[in-house]
Amino acid sequence: MSASDTSQIAPDAVPRDTILIGGGGHAHVVADVLSALGRPVRGFVAPSCKTVLEGVDWLGSDAVLDDITPGSADLALGVGSTGDASLRRELYRKFKAHGHGLPVLIHPTASLASSVRLGDAAQVLLGAAIQAGAVIGVNAIINTGAIVDHDCRIGDHAHVAPGAVLCGDVTLGDGAHVGAGARVIQGLSIGAGALVAAGAVVVADVPDNGRVAGVPAKDMNRETAS
Ligand SMILES: CC(C)(COP(=O)(O)OP(=O)(O)OC[C@H]1O[C@@H](n2cnc3c(N)ncnc32)[C@H](O)[C@@H]1OP(=O)(O)O)[C@@H](O)C(=O)NCCC(=O)NCCS
Repeated sequence: MSASDTSQIAPDAVPRDTILIGGGGHAHVVADVLSALGRPVRGFVAPSCKTVLEGVDWLGSDAVLDDITPGSADLALGVGSTGDASLRRELYRKFKAHGHGLPVLIHPTASLASSVRLGDAAQVLLGAAIQAGAVIGVNAIINTGAIVDHDCRIGDHAHVAPGAVLCGDVTLGDGAHVGAGARVIQGLSIGAGALVAAGAVVVADVPDNGRVAGVPAKDMNRETAS
């Protein structure tokens, strides 16, 4: 992500209608953020109307977006990721290519230092905390109660899961996932596409596409092979 892809927190513009993409658990959470921000939700799109989104109308499959003029409504990605960010990345790129806007969403209970920079479509969820100098990538998720401490750099489409803690100056590569309740000590680098399992304590760098678990975290592939 280049510096031009990020912005410091600006006052909310007048909220437009938002269409939610997806009807599962992450969509439920994003619907709540939209409600907390007072953003009207026109409905959600998903392959079927089987959903937990009470009170939000099902508009049909993604195909209905072909009839939505970009700019007449914002989109919000309600598709999360757990260790594989490819669908979330693909959807973001597709909708941007069609000219749709996906605004940054910050739950009102999240706490962000004033110097934090956020990429397009980044989502900061209930009770998350982001400290001074942190840069959050395009379409990244900082999930419920996660802590991203000072000067961390979170890659595009990366996900810091609920309750995870990144100590200061951690780099998280594009599409990486730090699992629920995991901890990463200061100054480390987690590679692009890497997965840190839930509850892990990471004490050494993780390479691109690496998978680590445990306390202290070890290479899951090596553990399986031995
Ligand atoms: C790491 C993870 C992806 C593994 O999932 P998986 O590939 O389906 O793996 P399995 O459940 O088949 O387990 C494989 C092995 O890893 C172990 N394992 C799985 N998750 C583990 C974890 N978090 N910590 C330590 N060991 C773990 C299992 O015990 C099993 O060991 P065994 O082969 O000795 O029995 C998953 O457990 C995880 O932590 N996901 C992140 C969850 C998360 O962040 N959710 C947030 C959603 S918003």
